[in-house]
Amino acid sequence: MIDLRSDTVTRPSPGMLQAMMQAKTGDDVFGEDPAVNDLEARCAALFHMEAALFCASGTQTNQIAIKCHTQPGDEVICDADAHVYQYEAGGIAFNSGASVRLLPGDHGRITAAQVAAAVNPDDVHKPASTLVCIENTSNRGGGSCYDFEALEQIQKVCAARHMGFHLDGARLFNALVARGETPGQYGQLFDSISVCFSKGLGCPVGSVLLGSKPFIAKARRFRKVLGGGMRQAGILAAAGTYALEHHITRLQTDHAHATAIAGALEHCSFVENILPVATNIIIFETSGHASDLVAKLREQGVLCNAVSANRVRFVLHLDVTGHMVDQVLEKIRSI
Ligand SMILES: Cc1ncc(COP(=O)(O)O)c(C=O)c1O
Repeated sequence: MIDLRSDTVTRPSPGMLQAMMQAKTGDDVFGEDPAVNDLEARCAALFHMEAALFCASGTQTNQIAIKCHTQPGDEVICDADAHVYQYEAGGIAFNSGASVRLLPGDHGRITAAQVAAAVNPDDVHKPASTLVCIENTSNRGGGSCYDFEALEQIQKVCAARHMGFHLDGARLFNALVARGETPGQYGQLFDSISVCFSKGLGCPVGSVLLGSKPFIAKARRFRKVLGGGMRQAGILAAAGTYALEHHITRLQTDHAHATAIAGALEHCSFVENILPVATNIIIFETSGHASDLVAKLREQGVLCNAVSANRVRFVLHLDVTGHMVDQVLEKIRSI
């Protein structure tokens, strides 16, 4: 089976497992795990931010960030397709008691003008708009990337209105590699950033939340409330450090594989439309039911997901080799 359902399906490589086995560990709730402390310090330095917090998942880092930035009754502004709204089980309401203002973006990307227009006036009838959440790359947007200038403009709106600016960077390294940008640029722009190790970077578990020292101190407390304080978590953090050293530049390969597959899909009669491919995700519209095509591909040995009634998603990752891509090309051409 060639598994294109998600970049979360990767298994740790022998090199990564070796790094995990050799990790120096301690009790991270006591702040005594050297491998966790090392990963947090590396990430903070990489992003030119003051502090970092290692967490179990991207959902946890996003939800902790939202909790830190808001008070119950506030409103969070984000794209209608944002993961924080679509796929975090109503966590914004459940954890933070906040409402959400959804904006219709361009493949998951919202603009400064949309944000400015969505900010509520200082009126007792209205929830206070206190946070803007951005996703880069955008999952439901087909792996789309923001133009950095567009993000700078949104940051200006946030700063002028005293709103927090959070980045769901589950796949930020895909965007950085695709656009030739640096983590430091992003660290200067956002109040908080969530980065996942368990997607394109190929780790079994883990995400990091970045922010100022007081922000991360507050986040550490919310992580504990959520039951996210782990003990000898260095085994997991060591995988993250390994990935930072070995798995970033190779993301280009996943992007090239996605472009090759999208090129073949263009000539397939069952494809009506393909969302622009910018990184490692391909979302396309089918002429029939997406679930029928998913079943047909499964029979051919290719696993993928239906993301709506007529949309199918392929995600490339480090466990998909060039040879497997050739096989996928053959199979889709034969349908
Ligand atoms: C854009 C985005 N943000 C956050 C997450 C949540 O990550 P996790 O599955 O680690 O909770 C995902 C997961 O796929 C995602 O795609």
